[in-house]
Amino acid sequence: MQEDNSFKAKPNDIVKLQNIYNGYQLTACLNCVARLDVASKLGNSVDAKRSAKEIAKDVGADPNYLGRVLHTLVANGVFQEVDNSVQIKNSNAGERVFKHNDVSLTLLDPLVRDEMIMTGSIAFSRSQESFTDTVVTGKSQIEKALGEDIWVYYNKNTEEQVEFSKGMTALTTRTSPFVASNFDYSQFETICDVGGSHGVLLNEILKTYPNGIKKAINFDQKYILPSMNGLSLVCNDPRYTEVDGDFFASVPSVDCYILKTILHDWDDEKSREILNVISKSIKPGGKITVVEHLVDDNNKENDLFVSSLDLLMMQLCDARERTKSEFEEMVKGTPFKIEQFIESKVPHIQSTIVLCLK
Ligand SMILES: C[S@@+](CC[C@H](N)C(=O)[O-])C[C@H]1O[C@@H](n2cnc3c(N)ncnc32)[C@H](O)[C@@H]1O
Repeated sequence: MQEDNSFKAKPNDIVKLQNIYNGYQLTACLNCVARLDVASKLGNSVDAKRSAKEIAKDVGADPNYLGRVLHTLVANGVFQEVDNSVQIKNSNAGERVFKHNDVSLTLLDPLVRDEMIMTGSIAFSRSQESFTDTVVTGKSQIEKALGEDIWVYYNKNTEEQVEFSKGMTALTTRTSPFVASNFDYSQFETICDVGGSHGVLLNEILKTYPNGIKKAINFDQKYILPSMNGLSLVCNDPRYTEVDGDFFASVPSVDCYILKTILHDWDDEKSREILNVISKSIKPGGKITVVEHLVDDNNKENDLFVSSLDLLMMQLCDARERTKSEFEEMVKGTPFKIEQFIESKVPHIQSTIVLCLK
């Protein structure tokens, strides 16, 4: 039978599609203004007004190209453009005058800038080259785009690795106060943040619980840990310490392990391996707190942010964001069971899933 190619899309529907199909450019524009710190050169209030030409001079960019980038961001709800009487073509886009709006003001926050720089990083962007292959094969094809898996890539590309860690640190700095108070960590003498990166969450937990906890170990790969690579320590609490290692091999022995934004990086088999390694070292009566987004089991909510993280995990590391029942399924076949789901009530803040030995 001959294929029917007679379907003709309606012009209005094509317009809707054209308005969203270049979404990657938005990521690139946000990444660019974050890297150049355009927001602070525009000013620090909604009253400030500056032309692209003036801002470009300060940030060392081409005025007309920057004007075109900002004009596009305005169309997407970031910054405002001031009506001025100059006739503007793309060849003199530097004459465009801009103001902040609430969304662009967030870019004054260095942590938001670090998050934008991570989101538009080379590794994240290049991983899209093999996106369709990933969907077709049902397995992340990131090696086709980067030449190796994401962790090996970061190991070799240290500048990008630092950008990634700073982006994670930014996200975690914002979310840590909620995560620290979502579960009572003072009931444990020893805790370990497995894959704890720069130690931001442990710092917050130690501040929140001055009593009870005697020792807090930040466990990560050697080249990530602050004290191992000359970065200044995030946490000066005397109870804080760092141990380097591989969580597929062994972890320190403590009463409570924190796995924040770790299991979403791994498929079920690898996640179980991590839990099995922990089971060999956990002290009697110990617990694990898994800090992750919970996807709605009833399929009622489709959170834009969590859906986009889910796809990122799919393309970067063959992993995913999970529903409660997917967590239950994954934990089966390990020595642990789920004791409690402590759901976050704050948008974009992760929930806490408490595990104990069966
Ligand atoms: C997505 S980041 C999460 C960092 C931190 N928990 C947070 O939420 O900000 C994943 C962390 O796992 C660490 N990691 C990856 N593979 C590891 C391994 N085999 N052993 C120890 N840490 C590992 C990475 O270095 C990174 O710091």
